[in-house]
Amino acid sequence: MSTKMISPAEQESLWKAAEGVSERAYAPFSDFFVGSAIVTSEGKVYVGCNVENSSFGMTNCAERTAIFSAIADKQSEGKLDIRAVAVLNRDGVPCAPCGACRQVIFEFGPNAIIIYRNKKGEIVQTPIVELLPEGFRLEK
Ligand code: THU
Repeated sequence: MSTKMISPAEQESLWKAAEGVSERAYAPFSDFFVGSAIVTSEGKVYVGCNVENSSFGMTNCAERTAIFSAIADKQSEGKLDIRAVAVLNRDGVPCAPCGACRQVIFEFGPNAIIIYRNKKGEIVQTPIVELLPEGFRLEK
């Protein structure tokens, strides 16, 4: 499947879903509240927020929470083809996916479009392969 840009209406709806879940972020250590919404090639939407821990390294980012929730969904039968991922900071601070999340997005959506607020403050769409060139794939 080829990389296809997301319509303004669809972007708006994913962004709203990410805003909603960002309200449930558990981020008492960083106070950086993140929400993410992903849409599959079948049109199903999953959301996630960041979940921090007193043992800081245990923190899970919003994007990975959304992706793991999609995989865990009975309906997905363990399969997932991500069409787009929206990620945002609740307070409007620029937030592109971290490196670890880029690799996890790539695993399930090599053609995915990422929607995020860039450092200039603009909401942009960028294919994952531009954010993560030469993403790792296990060849056996
Ligand atoms: N965070 C995310 O949830 N997604 C990202 O792509 C960047 C960082 C979270 C992790 C941590 O809880 C907080 O933001 C500060 O790093």
